[in-house]
Amino acid sequence: MNILKLLIASLLASQIFAAQGADITCLSSICSTGTCPKVPTVPAGLSWQNGSINGNCAINNCPANTSSGLVNASNPFCTSCPGPTVNGVAAVFVNIGFTGCVASTADCYARPAHTWTNSDCLACYGKSSQYTQVDKNGCQANPPGADVSCSAATCTTAGTCTAVPTVPAGLAWQNGANSGKCAITSCPASTSSGLTGASDLFCQSCPGTPNGSVQAVFANNAQTGCVASTATCGDSRTANTWTNADCLACYGNSTQYAKADKSGCQATALPSSSSSPSSSSTNSMIILSSVLFTISFFF
Ligand SMILES: *[C@@H]1O[C@H](CO)[C@@H](O)[C@H](O)[C@H]1NC(C)=O
Ligand SMILES: *[C@@H]1O[C@H](CO)[C@@H](O)[C@H](O)[C@H]1NC(C)=O
Ligand SMILES: *[C@@H]1O[C@H](CO)[C@@H](O)[C@H](O)[C@H]1NC(C)=O
Ligand SMILES: *[C@@H]1O[C@H](CO)[C@@H](O)[C@H](O)[C@H]1NC(C)=O
Ligand SMILES: *[C@@H]1O[C@H](CO)[C@@H](O)[C@H](O)[C@H]1NC(C)=O
Repeated sequence: MNILKLLIASLLASQIFAAQGADITCLSSICSTGTCPKVPTVPAGLSWQNGSINGNCAINNCPANTSSGLVNASNPFCTSCPGPTVNGVAAVFVNIGFTGCVASTADCYARPAHTWTNSDCLACYGKSSQYTQVDKNGCQANPPGADVSCSAATCTTAGTCTAVPTVPAGLAWQNGANSGKCAITSCPASTSSGLTGASDLFCQSCPGTPNGSVQAVFANNAQTGCVASTATCGDSRTANTWTNADCLACYGNSTQYAKADKSGCQATALPSSSSSPSSSSTNSMIILSSVLFTISFFF
């Protein structure tokens, strides 16, 4: 009976108090604040004690989950008390803000130049800055644009790439991820509408919402959005290639029908198009003949 009580008590204890942390090395084998880095101030009660290997140090009692909710955490603390592993990456680095131990592949504060990835940005900064910059040297709120080809590799020089939209403000070209290419520094959250002065080149770097498999990489006729047309909405389009879907994408619903010779778009549908199912007389003919067919069955 006493053994049972002891067993229950130790089970309860193991639920409340997590285990001693993993070993780290401090400045000396005397494990204390002073020789070891400061412990987080939240949660309370954390301290360094002798590690499992002689001369090493470890956190006395790791909180159950160190991924968030800490104050003044550090890399050595996170090495001793990691957060949950994500996709095989151990959570041994302190995040930006010192509030959690996160699964970044390198130090959130000091890392080799140009080594940021989207997943490391999300781990270190959270959702407010989850995209790597084009040159992978930092993180930003919005995704960078895709690489495109401008007239030269001097991407920031005015005139090299087509001028950026004037709305929203703050758009700019910079050198792309690949040598010789250019990219928009930071794409607006949506480029499907609300732009002023959009171009095909801009839409290639910051596409709008695709329509099925058709990517929205062309500026609409009003240059207000990047739309899912199968070819450019502009003058350089191959002659006589307009379709109803492209007219709708490029011109909107005021001019959504391709002309008979596909040379452009117009406001009204072509007369008596055989492919159009919208004729109500055709529908009633189908219904009538089905009814007659069904009735004829019974005689
Ligand atoms: C911790 O380690 C130090 C140095 O190895 C040793 O002097 C000390 O007695 C140890 N303390 C405990 C509580 O084991
Ligand atoms: C740790 O805490 C975070 C946020 O508080 C949560 O999303 C995650 O699921 C927790 N992980 C474990 C293993 O409990
Ligand atoms: C602890 O964190 C607070 C703010 O969260 C900061 O002002 C302070 O400098 C930190 N202390 C140490 C020792 O890092
Ligand atoms: C998406 O494509 C389909 C097929 O081409 C077309 O019928 C439809 O109008 C398109 N939708 C939009 C929103 O452009
Ligand atoms: C055309 O589009 C506008 C907004 O883009 C919408 O308010 C209107 O209902 C549409 N008209 C038709 C006939 O679909």
